[in-house]
Amino acid sequence: MDPIDQLDLQKLPRHIAIIMDGNGRWARKRLLNRIHGHREGAKSVRAIVTTCRKLNIPYLTLYAFSKENWRRPAQEVNALWDLLLEYIDSQLPEMLEKGIKLNTIGDKEGLPPRVIDALDVAKEKTRNNNDMVVNLAVNYGGRQEIISAIKKIIHSVLENEIDTEDITMDLFSAYLFTKGQPDPDLLIRTSGEFRISNFLLWQLAYTEIYVTPILWPDFREKELIDALRDYQRRERRFGRTSDQLHSHSNNDPAS
Ligand code: IPE
Ligand code: IPE
Ligand code: MG
Repeated sequence: MDPIDQLDLQKLPRHIAIIMDGNGRWARKRLLNRIHGHREGAKSVRAIVTTCRKLNIPYLTLYAFSKENWRRPAQEVNALWDLLLEYIDSQLPEMLEKGIKLNTIGDKEGLPPRVIDALDVAKEKTRNNNDMVVNLAVNYGGRQEIISAIKKIIHSVLENEIDTEDITMDLFSAYLFTKGQPDPDLLIRTSGEFRISNFLLWQLAYTEIYVTPILWPDFREKELIDALRDYQRRERRFGRTSDQLHSHSNNDPAS
């Protein structure tokens, strides 16, 4: 039986976010350079995008490079940019063919110009695709995102575009990189670390968290389906009691 058949297709997350961790450990276990781990990890990215598209998951957010990752050796950072360029080059045809829109979250400033150019070109070419959004988090930090939203909101207040009283959760969300997108339903972190590492701090408020010891280069379609089956066993209560959910006719418990 195809493992996908074990899923309840009516109960899939609309938005999956992934902290793709463990490339270095994957390489170390094989006595390889860390870069080999990143290279193998890029293959997992391809596999997971393909599977999510197949499952009609509308939003996928992948943590590719954090603000803190600048602390790594320059040689590793440069190799990550090279791999990102290779990835974009090799994935564009599939994105165009399958209606996938590429979006980035994170700060452009500080990225090498060649990376900015490649991301801009890919975003422009996939701009009209409407079947799925892939957010690549590049030079991304959740705290930085919140501070930059606050600065923009203050500016809007000072310019009299909005009133202090207009600042609601919805308005705040609209000042984030993920403007207009649903919050992640499921966060996956590979390689067994139980931390958020400055990822989507606002957006993850009610996200189901799945941590697996599997290293990112080993995380492919089967492993994603295991995560989705685990997710489908969860009861998302959003503050309510279990009894309330079962007696409730409203099937959107977030409302
Ligand atoms: C994740 O793998 C990739 C990035 C952070 C870019 P790591 O490189 O963090 O792998 P480990 O944690 O050292 O195993
Ligand atoms: C988080 O992984 C960032 C990305 C996956 C891009 P790290 O490996 O950098 O996280 P920490 O530093 O161990 O928390
Ligand atoms: Mg790591």
